[in-house]
Amino acid sequence: MRLLVTGGAGFIGSNFVHYVYKHCPDWHITVLDKLTYAGDEKNLAGLEPNRFQFIKDDICDEATVDKVVADCDAIVHFAAETHVDNSLHGPDRFIYTNVVGTYQILEAVRKHDKRLHHVSTDEVYGDLEPDSTEKFSETTPYNPSSPYSATKAASDMLVRAWVRSYKIKATISNCSNNYGPYQHVEKFIPRAITNILLGQKPKLYGKGLNIRDWIYTEDHSSAVLAILEKGKLGETYMVGANGEKSNQEVLEMTLELMGKPKDWYEFVSDRPGHDLRYAIDARKIRAELGWTPAYTDFKKGLAATIEWYKNNRDWWQPQKAETEAKYKELGR
Ligand code: NAD
Ligand code: DAU
Repeated sequence: MRLLVTGGAGFIGSNFVHYVYKHCPDWHITVLDKLTYAGDEKNLAGLEPNRFQFIKDDICDEATVDKVVADCDAIVHFAAETHVDNSLHGPDRFIYTNVVGTYQILEAVRKHDKRLHHVSTDEVYGDLEPDSTEKFSETTPYNPSSPYSATKAASDMLVRAWVRSYKIKATISNCSNNYGPYQHVEKFIPRAITNILLGQKPKLYGKGLNIRDWIYTEDHSSAVLAILEKGKLGETYMVGANGEKSNQEVLEMTLELMGKPKDWYEFVSDRPGHDLRYAIDARKIRAELGWTPAYTDFKKGLAATIEWYKNNRDWWQPQKAETEAKYKELGR
């Protein structure tokens, strides 16, 4: 298997590359990544050149994409602009990468008749009422709230149209909030941990009551590999690990694990259009592909994540000042 991974220098992409490298010893992996502010080649350190190749380029570049897709057997497409707050204050590059980039991948997949797995998010479904028991499933109607989720929804729709009209061999997954090592410090959990490590109070948007459904990133990797190997072509799979928590609960647990009083945080202004609650019904992937998450103890996963940020200051410190300067401008 010659596997092409787009966005493989980012958070989930690099965790996935390490996962596949470990579990599929006879596969060759090529990463195509533009190395935006969110990508770091260091995330891929330690991979042997006989099994791994890195190409720094843009998924919107037609000639590059055509060549790398022609040279592989299958593609897992992670590359995207991913941060909701950035999308609210500068949507243009989200349209470019998430929509135009996915279009270029699809055209190359169609031309060279390759297998594609498209990685998407639960945010395409909008949000759920905080006090309901409803969950997102594969049949939930799309209802995106932010420029980020609207562009991911657009990319999913393109994949579905290419499956139906051109019969490309593709699958889609819509996963909930990931946490774990290598996540950029702009995101909630790493931002809170690194603030605390620097002696600064972490920030809670609005009233802190918004709910996210957390999954340890290695469980997302095992789900994507299961779909790539066993998924039914043309199908969508929801990926989640029953990890619903309010932002306030997550922050209080982080503070407790880091030896701080549980109210040692600041409320800041809310995100415009802030989605209230996400929750995933993952019965289909469990029943049809036999996938189960391995990391179901959130507190344990959070403690391991805190340890990783404690031990990898050199990795995150260069991102921190610029990220906080952006937040300061937004009043968050
Ligand atoms: P990330 O922001 O950490 O990484 C994105 C990667 O894509 C970076 O390495 C970046 O350099 C690369 N990239 C961006 N634009 C590019 C371009 N034009 N050409 C080539 N490479 C480019 O993102 P992440 O959190 O790892 O998310 C990866 C994927 O998973 C995304 O498609 C995202 O929508 C999806 N997803 C994320 C989550 C989550 O909780 N983070 C949950 C569900 C789905
Ligand atoms: O659900 C999947 C999505 O999860 C992915 O598609 C996105 O790429 C990923 O960024 C994530 O989106 P969220 O907006 O849910 O993640 P974020 O880490 O930005 O924020 C999580 C929650 O925490 C959200 O309700 C906003 C809140 N928050 C965020 C920050 C940065 C805070 O309360 N304080 C903060 O400092």
